Amino acid sequence: MKYDFTTAPDRRGKDSIAAEPNRFYQIDVPTKEGFSRIPMWVADMNFPTCPEITRRMIERIEHPCFGYFEPREELYEGIINWHKLRHGEEIKKEHIAYQNGVLGGVVSALNVLCSRGDNVLFHSPTYIGFTHVIDSYGYNMVLSDLKQDDHGVWRMDFADMERKIKEYHIHAAVFCNPHNPCGRVWTREEIREMMDLFAKYEVYVISDEIWSDLILEGYTHVPAYSVSDYAKMHTVTEYAPSKTFSLAGIVGSYHICFDGWLNERIQKESNLSHYNEMSVLWMYAMLGAYSKEGQEWTDELCQVLSENVNEAYETITTRFDGVSVAKPEGTYMLFLDCEKWCASHHTSMDDLLRKGVEYGVLWQDGRPFHRPYAIRMNVAVPNHQLKDALERLDRYVFNAEED
Ligand SMILES: Cc1ncc(COP(=O)(O)O)c(C=O)c1O
Repeated sequence: MKYDFTTAPDRRGKDSIAAEPNRFYQIDVPTKEGFSRIPMWVADMNFPTCPEITRRMIERIEHPCFGYFEPREELYEGIINWHKLRHGEEIKKEHIAYQNGVLGGVVSALNVLCSRGDNVLFHSPTYIGFTHVIDSYGYNMVLSDLKQDDHGVWRMDFADMERKIKEYHIHAAVFCNPHNPCGRVWTREEIREMMDLFAKYEVYVISDEIWSDLILEGYTHVPAYSVSDYAKMHTVTEYAPSKTFSLAGIVGSYHICFDGWLNERIQKESNLSHYNEMSVLWMYAMLGAYSKEGQEWTDELCQVLSENVNEAYETITTRFDGVSVAKPEGTYMLFLDCEKWCASHHTSMDDLLRKGVEYGVLWQDGRPFHRPYAIRMNVAVPNHQLKDALERLDRYVFNAEED
């Protein structure tokens, strides 16, 4: 490997909520002495970012003027090139608009497409960030359950979606592609079937594709807008470098929208507050990210994530009796179902979650994602940390000697 995905960065004193959980982390229990804390919860990775990003940012920081600025053409060229090379799609500058974060972008689009109190279709399990913004903006989340098929693969339930679209008069849906937390990389056929249903009832789609660069070996990302003419003109797609390159702390994202009218309306809505301004450092981070080096780094990252996912899946399914998990196809999240384990060990979810943290595995309560026995586990850590975490879960948590 050209890049370093094996050294765990020392993040102490560097303001990281992943590595040094604070008020955001709900599992309030100390870790036993002698056990390090392994960050496996919030969606950022325990790898240093792509060096080209840091290089471009440092180069810019060395010039000591940070006044108002105009985004460079190179930024748009980088985005256009990235989508062409990674997803085989042609986009133009006029389809791209800056958004100050994906969740903000989702809300700005909903504010254009909906009126107050409107029903919006989501899948369940549901990324918790969606639930928070939907609540705070006064929309009503209508959930259609994803179902696991005989092979454990999460599938959309089109009949249920149709029923809900009709019953709740739905004209806007938020689609997570790939899906967080289930890790599905939706196929062209699945997305087409969904879009045909949306076309039938004139449902607009906000497709959150923040995870679209993190596709595991054997899978291909299909942008939702690419499946049909209807999809192209009725979808707003949210992208960001934040998951791919661990840049959440830099803040910034962008949407792609092919309908000129809709695109302009959303930009007007997002700019109302005057807060929706790009930072010059985000722009330089993007220039480093969407570069040749960024492409190579992402390819290596996907290989590392594929190996980690395979290893974690293998261990969980062969050694943790009573814990089930669908193998992710994208993202770096595993969504464990611990119902049977909790029942056979007469243990509550709270106790199970605490047990992991006591031994330094900082995993995440999956219940707020709408599954009562779920734990979300982030495997974007150097492989030695993953091995360590799995070993601790084996010895001290799932297969611990009874007290
Ligand atoms: C599906 C999804 N959308 C959005 C976000 C957050 O994006 P942002 O920080 O740009 O609002 C996340 C973060 O984990 C996510 O998983």
